[in-house]
Amino acid sequence: MGQRIVTMISEEEIKKRVAELGAEIARDYGNKNLVLVCVLKGSFVFTADLARSIDANMRIEFLGVRSYGEGTASSGVVQITQDLSRPIEGEDVLIVEDIVDTGLTIAHLLDLFRTRRPNSIKVCALLHKPARTRIQVPIDYLGFTIEDKFVVGYGLDWSEKYRNLPAISVVESGE
Ligand code: IMP
Ligand code: MG
Repeated sequence: MGQRIVTMISEEEIKKRVAELGAEIARDYGNKNLVLVCVLKGSFVFTADLARSIDANMRIEFLGVRSYGEGTASSGVVQITQDLSRPIEGEDVLIVEDIVDTGLTIAHLLDLFRTRRPNSIKVCALLHKPARTRIQVPIDYLGFTIEDKFVVGYGLDWSEKYRNLPAISVVESGE
């Protein structure tokens, strides 16, 4: 039983889109107190590339989340495994997510962060799977809309595997 990794979005396409997002974000934030929040683990590759494509001052924070319920379905119950290192009060927060699937994780994070009184809070997601939406969340900056397939690579995993693949890919099981 083998697995075939099929590229859905190539390195080149990702690179081009990340550069466009970075330019847009730099334009929008100008001299604001930008805080990029990298949602671990899936966003670590995207955040590293995105941060380097934004020509503006920023600080970068890491948030560890675990969504209860294993496998490929999100239960919507989000546990914070590692919190931000500093308060975000009065700052302009941009949450950086690998993928918005059901929307439950982002909805929870927006609720949580709003209680900390940032000046503004927005969402940047590399991928969005609208077919699986359970709760509508605002995505202020979006890389790509994709069909309802489980994707890996560029930080995204399948049981902790494949995060290091350079392209966004689909795992197909063959015989
Ligand atoms: P949501 O709460 O359902 O929107 O999903 C949030 C998290 O589920 C994402 O941040 C990913 O970590 C994970 N996830 C959802 N879809 C995929 C996928 O296709 N591949 C890998 N991880 C996924
Ligand atoms: Mg994630």
